[in-house]
Amino acid sequence: MEQFQYQKLLIIDFGSQVTQLIARRLRELNIYCEIHPFQVVTKIFLQKLSPKAIILSGGPASVIDQNPPRPPKEIFELNLPILGICYGQQIMMDMLGGKVERGQGTSEFGKAYVSSSQDNSTILKNWAQEEQVWMSHGDHVSKIAPGFSVLGTSPNAPFAVVGDQIRNFFGVQFHPEVHHTPKGGKLLYNFTKLAGFKGDWSMEAFREKAINHIRNTVGKKKVICGLSGGVDSSVTAVLLHQAIGDQLTCVFVDNGLLRKNEAAEVIKMFKDNYSIPLIHANEQDLFLSALKNETDPEKKRKIIGTLFIEVFQKHASTINGAEFLAQGTLYPDVIESVSFSGGPSVTIKSHHNVGGLPEKMGLKLIEPLRELFKDEVRALGIELGLPSSFISRHPFPGPGLAIRCPGEITQEKLEILRDADAIFIDQIRKHGLYDEIWQAFVAILPVKTVGVMGDGRSYDYACTLRAVTSVDGMTADYYPFKHDFLSETATRIINEVDGINRATYDITSKPPGTIEWE
Ligand code: XMP
Repeated sequence: MEQFQYQKLLIIDFGSQVTQLIARRLRELNIYCEIHPFQVVTKIFLQKLSPKAIILSGGPASVIDQNPPRPPKEIFELNLPILGICYGQQIMMDMLGGKVERGQGTSEFGKAYVSSSQDNSTILKNWAQEEQVWMSHGDHVSKIAPGFSVLGTSPNAPFAVVGDQIRNFFGVQFHPEVHHTPKGGKLLYNFTKLAGFKGDWSMEAFREKAINHIRNTVGKKKVICGLSGGVDSSVTAVLLHQAIGDQLTCVFVDNGLLRKNEAAEVIKMFKDNYSIPLIHANEQDLFLSALKNETDPEKKRKIIGTLFIEVFQKHASTINGAEFLAQGTLYPDVIESVSFSGGPSVTIKSHHNVGGLPEKMGLKLIEPLRELFKDEVRALGIELGLPSSFISRHPFPGPGLAIRCPGEITQEKLEILRDADAIFIDQIRKHGLYDEIWQAFVAILPVKTVGVMGDGRSYDYACTLRAVTSVDGMTADYYPFKHDFLSETATRIINEVDGINRATYDITSKPPGTIEWE
């Protein structure tokens, strides 16, 4: 275990799907924390880690079951502040002499309102008399443990917030770590202040920790990193390069589905600016011939995915002695796919990023961004010295322009699309709108229509402009451009791009639409 000078908070994981959000909220408060599954937390472990406070996460188990997951009882003897969340509250009550029961109309899922029951000077400081919280529990505390008092109640949870303000033990039935508990961050802040945290953790500290971890894991071995030109893989590559220098080789697969000048820019940035060893796999012809005549969106995706693995494998196998494959997997990619930190969370789905390639190639996976959310990756990128114009780029999907080209994909259509897209983005940047928009692009439609240009007839492709606001890509709304902007942009595209004579603006939200066009 690495030793850092930062104050540490231990999160004992009982397998909640949202345990990682506790860590995220704490990092927002500049607090260093580690998540460890309850099974590994022993007395010796606690001595070694030496945390300043402990949070017990929620989890799918029931305290009423035989042998429910428990933290070691020593945690209650360390004189440390402890916060139990949901299951964490229940197991704490159970272990300290309270009682937990099931059901009979007291389960709560979703939004609820907590009223503070007495002076809210400690954990509920700066909470209003009534605050919205997010509940997700079947069992509930029916008797609080000796020494505790009730600090907040909700209609179905008479012990929504409990505390022993002498020992600084607290329990909440709801989840303060999720967005739907708007004052949850405040509660966590209050808890960490009680515990004496100064907020001495930063992205710089994360970088230092990640670099140490990479060095310890990799040793003198070689690492391959697939570079897509996107923010996640770029940050991964630069971080690895800072950690292990030329033991890293990047493989950049140009599948012919990239945006205008993208391949050249990526190569320039990594080879010229960072001197990172880079294999530029120009496989455009291979991808485009495999996609010929294919119009089915799912089949197109399969072709691209399968070919990517083959091509990547071919080029990666030229790097002798590589033992690791680095991927820019982020926390939202794994949040529902595996149990984090080896804890007991329920597997809901396997994510496409995680499976397949490393096993096939006999490589071990290294994913240094696995604990981070997108905005944290951006902050890390800045910390690593990547240009902020690069870091703040809109997301670009793995299958690239293929999912912006419904119908058959041809070289001609891709070139038209690239030109139109570059103009749209140029317009957005010129009007100072780029950072307000989550993602913007042009899609070329599989129809030609008649137009009139000058005195002549044209018969060219129609395109659609798409620009959305979103937080995470799961839901989205169209960006409300001014009409002047739209007409200026349409005029530019039609005048400057050979092959397009009609531009439309897509005003569909997601749902019911999707962001991409495939
Ligand atoms: P949709 O079109 O599903 O897209 O609303 C939501 C977000 O996901 C991106 N996207 C992908 N990203 N590989 C990726 O790396 C993919 O296969 C993929 N498909 C969609 C899309 O660009 C949008 O940001």
